[in-house]
Amino acid sequence: MKLGKISNSTFYVMVCLTILSFMSCSSDDDNNGSSGAIAPVAQEASDISLTSFRANWNNVFRASEYVLDVSADSGFSSFVDGFDNLSINQLSQSVTGLNSNTTYYYRVRAVVGGVVSGNSNTISVETNTQFPDDVTLKSATENNFFVGVAVSEARTNISSYDEIYTREFSSITAENDMKMASIFTGIDNTGAIIYDWSKVDALVDYAEANNINVHGHTLIWHRSLPQVLENFSGTDQEFEDLIEQYITDVFTRYQGKINSWDVVNEAIDDDPGVQWRDTVFLQRMGEDYVEKCFAFARAADPNVKLFYNDYNMTFDGTKRGKVLAMVDDLLASDLIDGVGYQMHIDYNFPSTQQIQDATDELVAKDVLIHFAELDVKVNAANDLTELTEERAMAQSQRVQEVVEIFNAIPQNKKYAITLWGLKDDDTWLIPENNGRPEWPLLFDASFNKKQAYQGFLEGL
Ligand code: XIL
Repeated sequence: MKLGKISNSTFYVMVCLTILSFMSCSSDDDNNGSSGAIAPVAQEASDISLTSFRANWNNVFRASEYVLDVSADSGFSSFVDGFDNLSINQLSQSVTGLNSNTTYYYRVRAVVGGVVSGNSNTISVETNTQFPDDVTLKSATENNFFVGVAVSEARTNISSYDEIYTREFSSITAENDMKMASIFTGIDNTGAIIYDWSKVDALVDYAEANNINVHGHTLIWHRSLPQVLENFSGTDQEFEDLIEQYITDVFTRYQGKINSWDVVNEAIDDDPGVQWRDTVFLQRMGEDYVEKCFAFARAADPNVKLFYNDYNMTFDGTKRGKVLAMVDDLLASDLIDGVGYQMHIDYNFPSTQQIQDATDELVAKDVLIHFAELDVKVNAANDLTELTEERAMAQSQRVQEVVEIFNAIPQNKKYAITLWGLKDDDTWLIPENNGRPEWPLLFDASFNKKQAYQGFLEGL
């Protein structure tokens, strides 16, 4: 609209109306202090959990701080502990220590030039509902996909572990007990492999007795190499024959008992320009060693589901491209059935969209999908000395997103989500990161369910 077209009298009326509306606003106690400081507009809560949420509001020009009230009563006759007139110098605040399944209310004021505005609008928010105790990870995913956990044979004999393994999980993976260095203990003087089957036997029996699936991990991995193969003095052909023998013996012994295996783990190099990680397997067996191992496995037992497993798949598109091209080659020879994306992720990295896109690329292949080795770091920046409620909430949100993405995969492609350990203080990440504190799992050091556990259920 051009100002020139408005008559003098219309312009005068508009100016008066503007002044009047300003005066009426500034005299409205519900919205502004008598000084004229503008009240913020409170916005919907976010990051809602069982015991917390995040209150949000908009920016007020020149506000030096904001003042927040939270109450379980819409009339604000009493306040949540610590949230009565709480000063904040940002546009949101995490409100913690709440009850589940309860409605709370919040309102906020702005402080401008030392003057406090009137109250904002009031937002109501309901905390999440506690799942009944008889809802477990296992019951909530029944007939949908396996929920697995990395275990050790030793811990299956400890009642506090055993109780949760059997109550919550429909699948187990040995964190270390089924790796080559644990089973293949030497070579005798006739050249035959010396085996220690004891832990694998016990784990398989444990799973059978408790009606739990076993996902085998892992036949070939450069970080679990028997001494004798590292310093092997025989020919390359003899080396390859031992690998074939090993795979065949494992599959023969556990026929019908271990129905899926990671055949090769982490074979693709992280360097964008390099296809294969430089390992003894590559050196001894050549560039088709991965294909050879899958072929040995297929020949040993055609009923076992064969997986390839690797890390950084959700955010390193170049590495993922190399892996998926290899998967295409294996599929062309009907040598692979599934792919594991190791989910060693952070509470704030990679983005949800990256995880979604990486999953979509896998869904486009004719393979079962395993979100393997899930743990969610909260302390990669080493800024925590204990797990704060706020960070635990962000972690829970992350777990929820991951489960939502997995659960949306077409039914016939969902294999499992496997947690890489049961409780925080057992995580491999603490030794892996030279003792840096971490709390990446669903149970705390005292075997209690964390918020992240609830996040898993919320994701379903
Ligand atoms: C880890 C175990 O958790 C540790 O206890 C062990 O010392 C080293 O291996 N990728 C994998 C897993 O495929 O087998 C690794 O497990 C973690 C990284």
